[in-house]
Amino acid sequence: MTTRYRVEYALKTHRRDQLIEWIKGLLAVPFVLHSQPTAVFEPQGQSVEKQASVAQRRYAEIFRDVEEIINDHIEHQKVGKPERSKLKLLVPSVANFFTSLALHDAFIWQDQRRFISNRRFVPPSFNDVRLVLNTAQVMSLVRTGPLGLVTFDGDVTLYDDGQCLTQDNPVIGKILRLMHRGSKIGIVTAAGYTEAKRYYERLFGLLTAIQESQMSLEAKQSLIVMGGESNYCFQFDANSPDLLRLIPRDEWLLKEMMLWTEDDITELLDIAEASLRDTVKNMRMEATVVRKDRAVGIIPKHGQKFCRETLEETVLIVQKILDMSEVGQRLPFCAFNGGNDVFVDIGDKSWGVLACQRIFGGIEGGKTLHVGDQFLSAGANDFKARLACTTAWIANPLETCQLLDEIAELDEMQQRKTR
Ligand code: IMP
Ligand code: MG
Repeated sequence: MTTRYRVEYALKTHRRDQLIEWIKGLLAVPFVLHSQPTAVFEPQGQSVEKQASVAQRRYAEIFRDVEEIINDHIEHQKVGKPERSKLKLLVPSVANFFTSLALHDAFIWQDQRRFISNRRFVPPSFNDVRLVLNTAQVMSLVRTGPLGLVTFDGDVTLYDDGQCLTQDNPVIGKILRLMHRGSKIGIVTAAGYTEAKRYYERLFGLLTAIQESQMSLEAKQSLIVMGGESNYCFQFDANSPDLLRLIPRDEWLLKEMMLWTEDDITELLDIAEASLRDTVKNMRMEATVVRKDRAVGIIPKHGQKFCRETLEETVLIVQKILDMSEVGQRLPFCAFNGGNDVFVDIGDKSWGVLACQRIFGGIEGGKTLHVGDQFLSAGANDFKARLACTTAWIANPLETCQLLDEIAELDEMQQRKTR
């Protein structure tokens, strides 16, 4: 018999984050027991404030408990046995943590802004938990500061999908503020171009703001663009017309990356291209296949909009075929749904972030934060960054700005404490 659970699992596993779903499930119990929906039509019942304070206490207790379960997992990681932790039993897909998470304090912080405990009809949601996790991550990073490296995805994280980082984008001032505070910056994007000019066209707002700032030449160089996930590396260069200088691969490749042979790269991209062509045909997609030296993808013909289901189907097929190929076992790759295109890149963002860490002198994963929008386990490209550093999962460029403001506010509070 096919149970509902099995159907859900088969159909949706790639669209769920198990840790967030688990926490959401834990919070559902106090919501059911302590929210008071009848107070809407029975005003003589418990006051909103009273109910909210009871709910807040219960939710906060749960976040405190989860914080401790994560700490226990970290202890198991330290002795090389993460698979024995209680968290691993409860959430089998959970990976390693680079820092503990200040979940209790982060929940109180977000509750003061989102009024989660005041709600009587809408339980703590996926987005509530995602934002609490982000705040908890930045709280832990700031408390153990300084934040060595912040890497950003491009599309949807810094600017809207397919757009450019123009001069009026509010994120610019916030990135400059991080640079002034001494953090290095990496833009780790899937967008893969061999020339600096193309990145200048996408990022000119930020690049010109850095150029015009009062920062020292050395401080300005603390911005790197890593394109094609982990394939093309550029550093800020005030003297170059495009404000970026290509760094030759032999200056920054990690030793594992040197083992990626051209033959394997061609073979993997050939397999991916054949699969994409096949799906385009079967799904009657109006798509153009784009082949590059480190990537292959499909983009819509004349303004066509693909539906989400078609894009996901395309990614899952190419992912499966590559997973089952021999070369796919040897060579890291990343197949993802870019919103209205599908790409397969050689390498992935974990390598991109690791290379940035190395270029800046060996910054640790626990001192690095990657901010991105694609964290589902299949068909998403920021997900792999979790192997290299701590992460924050945002849903749009506005949330990136809010996260950077949170970092600044927490940093300010931390400074006052230590002064
Ligand atoms: P990201 O969100 O900054 O990682 O950018 C992803 C988007 O870059 C994709 O959805 C594509 O539209 C675009 N893109 C351009 N060239 C490439 C490439 O070579 N590989 C992957 N994505 C690319
Ligand atoms: Mg993105």
